[in-house]
Amino acid sequence: MVNITFVETDGTERNVEAEVGLSIMEVATRNNVAGIIAECGGQCSCATCHVYIEGAFFDKVGEPVDDEEDMLDFSENRKENSRLGCQIEVTDDLDGMTVRVAEEE
Ligand code: FES
Repeated sequence: MVNITFVETDGTERNVEAEVGLSIMEVATRNNVAGIIAECGGQCSCATCHVYIEGAFFDKVGEPVDDEEDMLDFSENRKENSRLGCQIEVTDDLDGMTVRVAEEE
């Protein structure tokens, strides 16, 4: 288990234990993190799991694949550290990561 802090859009911080192998979206939905809707169930086709990865962890979560890039390009709220939560797998390297939930569009 690794420790991940989600910051909801109203600033509420949610510190959760995340199981290695799950996606960030799955961890968020299992812990009722507000703002992670996951409409498509993790198929990389809705972007309702849009998050921002804080600090150096952005480099640790790996590169987005083309499909994810395409989805993020549609988002008005895209930032340099944007990712889709369903496309990031929890690994031991992510212990202590902060994930900010993007504003809903
Ligand atoms: S859950 Fe739909 S794109 Fe991530």
